[in-house]
Amino acid sequence: MRGWVVPPPKTPIKSSAELRKEREKKVRWLIRDGYLKSERIRDAMLKVRREDFIPIDYKDYAYREVPLPLPGTEATISCPHSYPLFYEPLGLDKGHKFLEVGLGSGYGTALAREIVGSDGLVVCIEIDPLTFEFGRKNLENAGYDDIVLIKGDGGIGYLEMSPYDRISVTAACDKIPPPLIEQLRTGGRVIAPVVEGRIQELVLLEKSDKGVKQKVICRVLYVSLRGRYGMGEKPLRRASPFCL
Ligand SMILES: C[S@@+](CC[C@H](N)C(=O)[O-])C[C@H]1O[C@@H](n2cnc3c(N)ncnc32)[C@H](O)[C@@H]1O
Repeated sequence: MRGWVVPPPKTPIKSSAELRKEREKKVRWLIRDGYLKSERIRDAMLKVRREDFIPIDYKDYAYREVPLPLPGTEATISCPHSYPLFYEPLGLDKGHKFLEVGLGSGYGTALAREIVGSDGLVVCIEIDPLTFEFGRKNLENAGYDDIVLIKGDGGIGYLEMSPYDRISVTAACDKIPPPLIEQLRTGGRVIAPVVEGRIQELVLLEKSDKGVKQKVICRVLYVSLRGRYGMGEKPLRRASPFCL
């Protein structure tokens, strides 16, 4: 992983109570720094124990602003602030049918499930079989049994459950994969890290009956999307350090 200094693996020593305090402190920090605004996303971040989605040797770093390695090829659990960074502009809310591309640890999926509630639905696709198994087990252990998990290429979406109200892509692509735009409901939004020259930008796309409109939120740094709409063997392009 380039661009980040990952802390060394170690045997975890922090208690649940210590990690809960760190979680509450992180949420206060995210509110103060303007990342976290809505009540539903705040409640989800207070409820979901991020440490339950992290490989044992990295658990003590659960609330550090650093992506941590996961089983699989180039898979990471993103920094804590990247979840409200995606979900706030996306306007993820109660009742939404939400598609996530890139299950990773399952943490973002669990947050989404809490946010959309029982009136909504979360569908998540992961391309890497090892990562898929890790994320699936984490969700199962945390008691999430109504999330639709698909092992496959998320760039082509999942037509069977479409249309979606909101879509989030957690890996960098050259452009938002067209099938995802097709599977989006009119009035819906997609958010994704998109490579622009030598940098990556977090792009929010809105679909209306007049067409699609895109805006750039900030610079980011994500692992590359794989599969049909992936970036192939191109090297991961570097982003400026201020956003993620
Ligand atoms: C930054 S990680 C996801 C972090 C995740 N949201 C979490 O909370 O842990 C990006 C993930 O996207 C997956 N990925 C890459 N290309 C994909 C594709 N075409 N379809 C589905 N998943 C893909 C990677 O294997 C990796 O697990």
